[in-house]
This record gives sequence, structure tokens and C-alpha cells, in this order.
Amino acid sequence: MTDYSPRKGMSAAEINATVAAIIAEATLEEKVAMMSGRGFFKAYRESGGLWGAVPYQAGGGLERLNVPALFFTDGPRGVARGQSTCFPCTMARGATFDPDLERRVGEVMGIEARAQDTNLSGAVCVNLLRHPAWGRAQETYGEDPYHLGVMGAELAVGIQTHNIIATVKHFALNSIENARFKVDVQIDARTLREVYLPHFKRIIDAGCASVMSAYNKMNGEYCGQHRELLTDILRHEWGFDGFVHSDWVMGVYQPYGAAAGLDIENPEPIHFGQKLIDAVNSGGIEPGVIDTACGRILRTLYRFACAENPLAAYSMDLVAQPSHIAIAKEAALKSAVLLKNDGTLPLKGPASVGVFGRLADVVNTGDNGSSRVRPPHVITPLAGIAELASKTNAFGSAIALCGTEADIPDAASAAKGLDTAIVVVGYTAVEEGEYIPGDINLGQEVSSAVGEEIAAGASQRKARGTIGGDRVSLRLPPAQVDLIRAVAKSAKHTVVVIVAGSAVLIDEWVDEVGAVLQTFYSGMEGGSALAELLDGTVSPSGKLPFTIAAKEEDYPFFDKDADAITYGPYHGYTLMDRDGKEPAFAFGYGLSYASFTYRALNVRRAAGGIEAWVSVRNESSITADEVVQLYIGPPGKAAERPTKLLRGFKRITLGPGETRAVRMFVPEADLCWWNPETRSWALESGVHTVMMGSSSRVQDLLSTHINL
Ligand code: BGC
Repeated sequence: MTDYSPRKGMSAAEINATVAAIIAEATLEEKVAMMSGRGFFKAYRESGGLWGAVPYQAGGGLERLNVPALFFTDGPRGVARGQSTCFPCTMARGATFDPDLERRVGEVMGIEARAQDTNLSGAVCVNLLRHPAWGRAQETYGEDPYHLGVMGAELAVGIQTHNIIATVKHFALNSIENARFKVDVQIDARTLREVYLPHFKRIIDAGCASVMSAYNKMNGEYCGQHRELLTDILRHEWGFDGFVHSDWVMGVYQPYGAAAGLDIENPEPIHFGQKLIDAVNSGGIEPGVIDTACGRILRTLYRFACAENPLAAYSMDLVAQPSHIAIAKEAALKSAVLLKNDGTLPLKGPASVGVFGRLADVVNTGDNGSSRVRPPHVITPLAGIAELASKTNAFGSAIALCGTEADIPDAASAAKGLDTAIVVVGYTAVEEGEYIPGDINLGQEVSSAVGEEIAAGASQRKARGTIGGDRVSLRLPPAQVDLIRAVAKSAKHTVVVIVAGSAVLIDEWVDEVGAVLQTFYSGMEGGSALAELLDGTVSPSGKLPFTIAAKEEDYPFFDKDADAITYGPYHGYTLMDRDGKEPAFAFGYGLSYASFTYRALNVRRAAGGIEAWVSVRNESSITADEVVQLYIGPPGKAAERPTKLLRGFKRITLGPGETRAVRMFVPEADLCWWNPETRSWALESGVHTVMMGSSSRVQDLLSTHINL
């Protein structure tokens, strides 16, 4: 028997020859077996219903020939195995606008995935936030395709640094949760390429080696068996040479998915397996389809398995080590977005400070779906504030939970006389998250063994009248609004901390409080970061990666139960720009304890694109970070185009009084539009507006022009 085990240092030619030999020697049954995951339901049962707690085979693997298998782990907010580092959720990391940090987060995930026996990571989730009610908003970076692509590419590169294959998901148009198994998204070719796919392409261009298809349909066909998506665009237009695997169970309905470009059905052979063997034997599917799929799977697997490892060993003691936890804290510090501040923050101290709200004292790192991470510890807001209060005098004396929405009169009387009340509000896994209802038929094997955790989550949601993952409201629960109002009337100053995966409309109470800080789900170190942001050890520097509209109806139409929906070319800031609607808080907006001024915006043509630069000065007496943003306003003559599009951003740190010229290069490709008549990208000639500044609001941007 030939031994085809991968060896470190094998050249590309040796890998190709090995893969060809495996394909020649394996039987049809063995090859088809490599095109499916297996063992998921068994592992799920054995782990007591903990989704993803045990790595399971997700394709590849042929013992007879010593061919390794893919072992999958989830994790936009950390590795969903063991007791891994739990980062702030992806949306929070989107708010950092810090690609360098995101690459380091990816490296940690790569190391922790390696240490825990996996080689395929489902961490790169970049579906576009079309509407803030999307239940899985927290798993993506935001509403803008450019920003999604830049951040997701860094995460993928970081993960793959440690020879873990990164999979980018969910390809494509997966941004309604409850309806994800059935919704048919109608979209035209131009909108697809300009709005919903550029981020996937950017991440694949950066080297991401695997793609997970989406559950939903596009223009009448399931994405998991969509030839236009999986073959015409992904392989032919973009030149992707990695493998595609399905989302879990529901994504593939016919063996012909294989011919459309799906290489692996996960997590079990339900639609492939014997049905695919039969289809090949009956002539319905060419044997070449099987060989092509196996070639893609095996070449990718071997490329990663044969590459040299940056670390000498990947041992368990690396998981959630202090340096990894420090990166989780850095992300929490950089992600919080200060939406309002009348001078209440930072806390002046010594003062009397009280903490309010049930969520102040709850472990709340995000939803309980596939992205759930179980870290060794989680610092809640209350614990973080109490810990820092014991070391400094900014928070006054003893810190306690003074009241919650369960007893508002009691909370109001506790707030009387306080200098500052900190009220923590928002959502948990009950209000938003992945839709994994307990009564779903997860395939033959699992229907009788639905895990307790999933069932418990489902009955909790059912009790609230919904088992859905999409939000039912864009506002805070009424009891939390009552709590804010009651506390704000009693305390001298009130700070509201919002925990949520995306936009929350706050207009009905915002004028009654002094400061509002959105922390998202801020990970295992969220509470300690919060305390340092409140007392001014660090200035908030996160910027909104989405638009907070003034009114619900300013967002595009959203129906969590839709059978079909049309995705048009406008959403978020492009929609509000087009309609002349002033948002409550603009994309890219976020306050600081420092103040920055911008001057001297310049632009010039540079090889292959344009270069713009602007001077930014920190006018304050503290060191702080600023996220400098660049938007392009295309001529919009050849076709109707958005008023402006984000095409660059840079996070900088400036000391007191420091000035820096910030330069950004925009390649021509990022200025183009997709012409549906010629079916190609085109640069529009004419005057382009170049804008740089601190948010997408016109008043926060300097602007100049360049004729291209
Ligand atoms: C989710 C994916 C996830 C998969 C495996 C699915 O339900 O949609 O994002 O990677 O489960 O856990």
C-alpha cells in the first residue's frame, strides 16, 4: 500500500503528483466519501449537545492511503472549542477599523485552533449587514463591502499564518436569519458584484483557501448548488482554486450540487454520499466532477499540511494564554463607540458611582449559536468596574449593582444623590443570534437527539413568543428604557452602556442622559476594558461600522420570515445619502475624549490609482487614537452610482498636540463600477470627489476633486 501522508517541505509539484496519485488509486466510493463531512451528529450527541465542542471531520480523509482529513472548528469570536480566548464579537472588531489588530486576532485563532486538533476554521464571516435586525449581525464586520473585505482578509491571513485553512462564509447574500433555510434573494448582476460580493473577492484574493456556501437561495436556486456563484463567478471570474463546502445540512438538496461547484457537503453525507455515487453510476454526473472536487480538497489540504509551521509546537498551554487575552482586551478597548458625551465622561472622581441594569452582572459574550466560545473567564461590566474602582478613586467607594429593570422604583431611589449612574442595557442571546431552533430536523441521525442546550435556547425563545434569531425590534426592551429614564431623573449624571450586535435606535431617551457608549458584545475582557474607558485611562476610539437611522423606515425593507426578497443596490449610508435622510448616527461616527482637526487634503494620480493625504492634529492634552476615513464620490454619469463610497481607512495614535499627514492609496480597481452590458468592470472618466475625515457625515469630511 502506498503511503500518501503529507510531508513538511513538499514542493507544489510533489503535492500535485501526490494528489493525482491518490485520485487515481482511490475508488469512486472513497472519493465521494472525501466529499462529505462525517461524525458531526455523533460528536454532537457525545458532547451533550454542545454545538461544535468536538472537532469533527469536515471532508477529506482516506485512512487506507494515509490521506488526512479536514477537522472543522467555528469561531468568529474565538475558537469554538475547549476554553479558548473569547474576543469581542466581529461587529465590535469591525468598529476598531484596525486591520493590524484583526490580523493578530486571526493569528491567535490560528494558534488555538492548531492546539486543539483542527485544521479548518469557520471564523471569517463577512455577510453584509443590510439591515440591523439580522440576528447574526454580531458575526460580521458591518454594512460596507470595502471595510468587510479589508477586515476579513486580515483575519483570514492571520488564521492561515499557522496553517489553518480559513473558510469565508456564507457565500452569499445570507443576511436574514429566521428565513435563512428558504429565503430566495432576488438580485441583479451589478448589485451582486458591486455590493454583496466584493468583500468575498478581496478575502479570496488575499489567499483565503476555502469558501462556505450559504443556506439561502439566490434568484431561485440554493447557493450551495448555484453554478453561477460557485463556478462562473468564484472559479472563472475570480480564479479561486481552493474548495467550497456547504453550510450545515440545509444548504444542499441534490447531488448535482457537486457539478455546480460544491466540493464538500457538511456535516454529513445526506445529499451526496450514496446518492452521489448512484448519480455517477447512472451517468447523471460525470466522474470528472468527483475527481475535480477531490483535487481541490486534497491540494488545499496538502498545501497547508506540508507548509512549515511558524511555531515549533502548538500545545494546549498556548490556548487563552495571557498574551492572547491581552489582544482580546485591546480589541475591547478599541471597539467601544462613544455616541454621545456632554462631558459626563471620563469620570472625574472621586465621586459616587452606581451600576444599574441586569446586563451589568451577566456573562454576555454574544449568541449561543455556532460562534459560541467558552473562555476560562469573562469579566462582566460590574466586575470590571469594581476591580478598577478598588485601585483608583475615579469611581468613588464601593461599587455595587444598585438596581435593575426588575424593580424600577427601587433603582430610582438607589440612584438618588449619585454623581454618576452607569446603566448597562441591550441584548443577549435571547433577543438576537443564530437561529438554531430545537425542533429543527437536523437530518435523520439527530432528530431524536436534539441537544439540551439547543432545546433550552429554543424554549426560552418560544416562551418569549419567538424562536427566531432576528431581532423583533430595533429599540431597547421597554423595561430598559424605563430604567434609563428613572435613573436619569435621580442621578446627577447618567452613562448608558449599550450591549448589542448592531444598531439600536435610541432617540426616545438619548436626550435624557449624559453619555452613551456602545460596547457590542465585548468578549472575555469586556468589563475590564469598559472600566478603563469610563475612567479615561483609554479614550474611546471605535467608529460605527453601520448607520444608525433616525427612523426604522429609513432602512431597507426587512422581513424575517420572507420567502423571497429583493436586494437592491442601496442600503446603509448609500441609501440614506441617496434619499437625503439624515441618520441619527452616521457610518464611521464615534466620539473621543480628545479632539482632532483635519486640514490640507490633497490628491494626485499615482501609478495604478490615486493617492490622497490629509493632516490630522490632536488638539487635546491626551494621547488618543483616531480612525481616518477616505470616501470617493464617483462622477455617476455613465450610470447611477452612490454619492460616496468608503475606499480607505487608517487608525492612528496621536499624542497631545501631535500632527500627522495620513496617506492612502486607492487602486483603480476600487474606483470602478460593474457594467452589466459589457459584463465587466469599468473606470468612469470624469470628476471624482475625494473626501477624508473622521466619519461619513458631510460636516466631518474635507473634500477635493480629481479628474480621471
Ligand atoms: C452556521 C455556520 C457554522 C456551521 C457549523 C451553521 O448553522 O450557519 O456559520 O459554521 O453551522 O457550526
